[in-house]
This record gives sequence, C-alpha cells and structure tokens, in this order.
Amino acid sequence: MPIIEVNNLTKDYGHGRGIFDVSLSVDKGEVFGFLGPNGAGKTTTIRHLMGFSNPQKGKATINGLLCNKQASRILRDVGYLPGEPALPENLTGTQFIQMMQGLRHIKDKERLSHLLELFQLDVRGKTKRMSLGNKRKLAVVTAFMADPDILILDEPTSGLDPVMQESFIAFMKEEKKRGKTILLSSHIFSEVDAICDTIAIIKEGKIVSSVKADDIRHNQNKVFHITFESAAETGRFQGEPDITVSYTNLEKHIAKVSIHDSDTNRLIRILPKYRVESFKEEKYTLENHFMRFYEKGV
Ligand SMILES: Nc1ncnc2c1ncn2[C@@H]1O[C@H](COP(=O)(O)OP(=O)(O)OP(=O)(O)O)[C@@H](O)[C@H]1O
Ligand SMILES: [Mg+2]
Repeated sequence: MPIIEVNNLTKDYGHGRGIFDVSLSVDKGEVFGFLGPNGAGKTTTIRHLMGFSNPQKGKATINGLLCNKQASRILRDVGYLPGEPALPENLTGTQFIQMMQGLRHIKDKERLSHLLELFQLDVRGKTKRMSLGNKRKLAVVTAFMADPDILILDEPTSGLDPVMQESFIAFMKEEKKRGKTILLSSHIFSEVDAICDTIAIIKEGKIVSSVKADDIRHNQNKVFHITFESAAETGRFQGEPDITVSYTNLEKHIAKVSIHDSDTNRLIRILPKYRVESFKEEKYTLENHFMRFYEKGV
C-alpha cells in the first residue's frame, strides 16, 4: 500500500489557477520529487497533504488516512517543512526548539545535537533577527528532530547556501537509506537527480509527466546536434529517408536527431552524404527532459 496517495485532487481557485485531477503515489522508502514552474500547484498539493485545505474533488491520504479529516493523527508520523516557514518572532531559536519538543513529546536530545551540528545552526538569538537561511535551517531542524518516518518538504534547500545545500542533500540520502518516505518539491534539477526515485512534473495545476529517475539515467536514446554548412544542406537532410529528423532550424543550419543507441552507426554512415560543420551528442539528462515543460506553450 502506498504511504502517500493523492487521487484526482482538485482545488479550483478560479481563472485557471489551482490544481486539477492531481494523482500521485509514494511507496514506503521511496523519494518522490515534485517539480514545476512557479505557480504550478506544488504548494497547493502539499498543503492538502498536510490537511490545511479541503479538496473540492478527489482525496489525499497518508497511511490510508484522509489528510483533511485525520490530520492530527497523521502528523505524528510526518516531518513537514513549509515553503515559507513562519516562526514565532518573540522566541529565541532555543525556545522555539523547546516549544516544538514539548508539542511533539520529543525526548531524544542526541538527534537534535546531531542536526544542529550538521546544519551548523546557532540557535541562541531571537528568530526575528535570524537571516533567511538560518530561519530555514531552524525549520529543517525542527521538522527532522522527531525522526519522523515520512518527510514532506516544500523546496527544502531554497535559501540555503551551496555548502548547506550539499549537506542537506547528503542528509536526505542518509534518511533515504534509513527507509524514510520522502516527498519534496524543488526547482533544482541536480538535487532531484541526486535523491529522487520518481519525479513528477506539474504544470498549470496538472501533472504532465511522471517518470522513474532510473529510466532517464539509463535512457538508451541519444540526441545529436548537427550543424550544416548551409540552409539548403539542412533542408536536404530534413528529407533524409533513412533517419527521422526531430528538429531543424534552417536559419541557423541546425538539425537534431533523436535515435536509439543501436542506430548510431546508421547515422554515422549517412552523414558523409552531407556537408557537416559540427556534430555533437547532447547528453540525455533529467534537466533536458524536464526543461521543456518549463517553457511556455508546451
Ligand atoms: N489560497 C489561494 N487562493 C487563491 N489562489 C491561490 C491560493 N493558493 C494558491 N493559489 C494559486 O494557485 C496556483 C498554484 O499555487 P502554488 O503556490 O501551489 O504554486 P507552486 O507550484 O507552489 O509555485 P512556486 O514554485 O512559486 O512555489 C497559483 O496560481 C496561486 O496563485
Ligand atoms: Mg510553492
């Protein structure tokens, strides 16, 4: 049974904004990456998982329990990092941590010291005087200190400096090894690539692509960029009967060919018939798989 399950979740805010028929599922021990442009619906979906919002249609469940009905039971097993953590302003970092420990009945001090050290967080000052990065680190530490089995993280590394981003990714890998179930939203391909097993793209409130990261990593398709000497030569190649040309730009004399590994030899045999200026292979990465969904009108 999936740990996190979203079925046909719909929340229409009007004017095409909101989420529409969003479905996803995350199994135990799986890391699920949720990507999409600004305003696509990631936070809205996550807020439904946290039980902060009631859907108009469909449902969200965690451990089989309805998120909008049994939030307090569910949240005992969930560590949540909001996209914009709101911290009480009149407390110091230490007082905030103590408050959260009390609320969540946390006794394990060792885990807390491990996290404070890992994120090099000084918790002595008032939260309102903390830098944005430190506020986020404090939110990270409080989300993880109960050692929850399920982690729901809305853009966890935004606001962290590059060194801290790396530490965070290393930490997530550790958590993954310990069998945690993780759903995270992100704009950072390298982070998603480093830790996610499944990746879904949401655009304008709808899931437009969902893939297993391994399928992309072991993809046996190659894309070749070929630049020809002239537009005429590019046009001639466009009509090449022995290969399918996926894209041409006559003005720039460019063509792209997407082929399976086993067809590489065929392409190389064809090319001497044309006046080629340059020829390069584009690595098929998660980034170029997903980048096209970020472009307008696709
Ligand atoms: N409470 C609300 N009332 C009205 N519209 C809302 C509300 N919450 C979100 N929206 C709209 O729903 C859409 C999705 O917003 P959401 O915050 O889920 O996007 P996101 O994918 O998290 O974006 P980002 O990458 O910028 O964080 C946006 O158009 C947003 O303006
Ligand atoms: Mg968001």
